[in-house]
Amino acid sequence: MDELPHGTYHSFRLPDGREIRGQADTFERLKALHLPEDLSGLDVLDIGSHEGFYSFECERRGAKSVVAADKITWEMFPEHRTTFDTMHGIFDSDVEVVVSSVEDLVESLDGKQSDLTLFLGVLYHAPDPFEYLRIVKQVSKGLVVIETVVDFLDVDLPVLAYYPGDTYNGDTTNVTAPNIPALRAMMEDAGFHDIEIFEPHEKHRIHQLHANAAVYPRSLVSKLRSRLLKPTISGRVVVHARAD
Ligand SMILES: C[S@@+](CC[C@H](N)C(=O)[O-])C[C@H]1O[C@@H](n2cnc3c(N)ncnc32)[C@H](O)[C@@H]1O
Repeated sequence: MDELPHGTYHSFRLPDGREIRGQADTFERLKALHLPEDLSGLDVLDIGSHEGFYSFECERRGAKSVVAADKITWEMFPEHRTTFDTMHGIFDSDVEVVVSSVEDLVESLDGKQSDLTLFLGVLYHAPDPFEYLRIVKQVSKGLVVIETVVDFLDVDLPVLAYYPGDTYNGDTTNVTAPNIPALRAMMEDAGFHDIEIFEPHEKHRIHQLHANAAVYPRSLVSKLRSRLLKPTISGRVVVHARAD
């Protein structure tokens, strides 16, 4: 058997039952996705596959084909691509790799559309989230499952949060997050239908605003703090929608 990877991002369960515990609890996250148990006959696309946990899981659930697409992490942190390749070997997988940015995806896939598209943990990295949703719609012709950060959960009007620098979780690649009405509206405008947004599976205080007093004036931070004493206003949701 291939040597087991260490210090992984995804958690994995090996064919012999052993577990690799990564930084992300993919077993718990998987439950929140409400993925159909039986994917037989479906062509699946996993956009932003990273170390591939969800791609391999779709294959395990009987998908006819699975494409794992990613670029940024695989190029910036090759150890994650190495983990993907090692797990591909361990699972004796037929998952196909497409190295592509979201921006180039329609071209990279030659216009092919999938029956099930996973877009997990990617939308908040988008400089232009509406454009990303339109691309996801273009490469899909069935169920689309999105998992993403949402913010301003206590605001009823559609709004988007913008995170300058590393103000969301200390990570400069986190750029923006809609609240739930904005996410729904953007998805409708991108052409999705039958949009179901599940209850947030995580909720947080607006910790990014506490983090960086240099970016946000002290008076704004203290105003927001007092406004936010009770509500937990950012979080993560899963969305199911149809692209056919
Ligand atoms: C937070 S990780 C999520 C990984 C996995 N989908 C999950 O849910 O565990 C975000 C992934 O999106 C990818 N990503 C972000 N922006 C991207 C872009 N513009 N083009 C391609 N991939 C991108 C990153 O490379 C990374 O693998």
